[in-house]
Amino acid sequence: MRSKITTYEELFENNRQWAAENLRKDPKYFEKMARGQKPHFLLISCSDSRVPITGITGVAPGDMFVHRNVANVVDHTDMNVLSVLQYSVEVLKVQHIIVCGHYNCGGVAASMESKPHGLIDNWLRNIRDVYRLHYRELDAISDPEQRRRRLVELNVIEQAYNVAKISFVQNAIRRAHKPLEIHGWVYEIRTGLIKDLEIDLETAYAEHGHIYEMGTS
Ligand code: CO
Repeated sequence: MRSKITTYEELFENNRQWAAENLRKDPKYFEKMARGQKPHFLLISCSDSRVPITGITGVAPGDMFVHRNVANVVDHTDMNVLSVLQYSVEVLKVQHIIVCGHYNCGGVAASMESKPHGLIDNWLRNIRDVYRLHYRELDAISDPEQRRRRLVELNVIEQAYNVAKISFVQNAIRRAHKPLEIHGWVYEIRTGLIKDLEIDLETAYAEHGHIYEMGTS
């Protein structure tokens, strides 16, 4: 699809209109926004330009803290995502952490190819690890498109588990006054609809909890 906005100047023109429109509805809109944020949601999604989760869930500025990277990966050596997560659970005290992938994900597709893509192959190795964990199920799917779609889902599930494996997230879940929930979503670009994968962390913990559970520090 071709981009609707093609010139750099249009971004500023649109921004001025957007700011004026908000001021027209509420003259104190930006004054109130500048006082601080208390979002209930953290979203970790793909950088893909077709996945505008904040734009399709009705959330307004201030409602959702956001981290995006190629193929919505939660890597425990990535200072960026760890910092976002720590701030979200310890300072903002979000109640929902959502990992959102999407079908037609170029990152997931690239991770299934054997040709080189440069530096990003090292990032996409995280997704190859997901494939390795689930290769029996994935290799049994003969249709390449269906196999890609399933890997998109499994990647979301494993990255959500990765969130739950983080020490300070485990502490926050134990100490939280309100429940802290971890969700996995997949966005279907063809329909514009989000699917909740209804990740069952309790069952996963029953199986793997003895390996990843760290106890309160
Ligand atoms: Co993607």
